Amino acid sequence: MNSTAPNLPHHPSGDQRFAQLDQTIAHYRHEPTALIQILHAAQHTFGYLAPDVLRYIASAMKLSPSHVHGVTTFYNFFSIVPRGKYQIMVCTGTTCHVRGAPTVVERLGQQLGIKEGQTTKDGLFSLHTARCIGACALAPAITVGEDVYGKLAPDKIPRFCQKDLKKYA
Ligand code: FES
Repeated sequence: MNSTAPNLPHHPSGDQRFAQLDQTIAHYRHEPTALIQILHAAQHTFGYLAPDVLRYIASAMKLSPSHVHGVTTFYNFFSIVPRGKYQIMVCTGTTCHVRGAPTVVERLGQQLGIKEGQTTKDGLFSLHTARCIGACALAPAITVGEDVYGKLAPDKIPRFCQKDLKKYA
C-alpha cells in the first residue's frame, strides 16, 4: 500500500481529515470501482458526507459530482446530513411491520420532535428505519446504537422515551 498521495490537491481548509481521505483514495489507486469503500471511509472520518467532501472525492477520483452524489443517495447507509450521536433504527421488516412498526416510527418521531431521517436538535438521536434487524422474535424491535430493544409496541413508546432513552443523554 502506498500511504502517500503526492499528486492530490490539498484541501484549502487545512482540515487534516482530508489528508486521511487522500491516503484512502491513494490506497485504492483512484479506482472508480472502489468508490463505495472510499465513501464509507469518508463517512467514518467525517461523520457524514457533506457537500464539500463529496466534491473533493469526485475531483480526486475524476468522477462527476452527480455520479458520486447519486451513489450516496442510492445506499441508505450513507448520510449526507449530520447524524446524531446515537442512531435509532426502527425495524420495518415484515414481522415488525405487522406488529405496528409504522406507528412506532410515528410515535418516536412525535416524542423526539423529528421525522424519519432527521436528527434531534441536541444532536443526540437520529431516527431511521431498516429492513429486519434479525430480532424477529422480539418484534416490534428497534436498535439504539448497538443496543437492541424488543417487544416495543406503539403504546410503550412514551415510557421508552422517558425512561430508556434518558440513559443516552
Ligand atoms: S422483521 Fe423486524 S427484526 Fe426481523
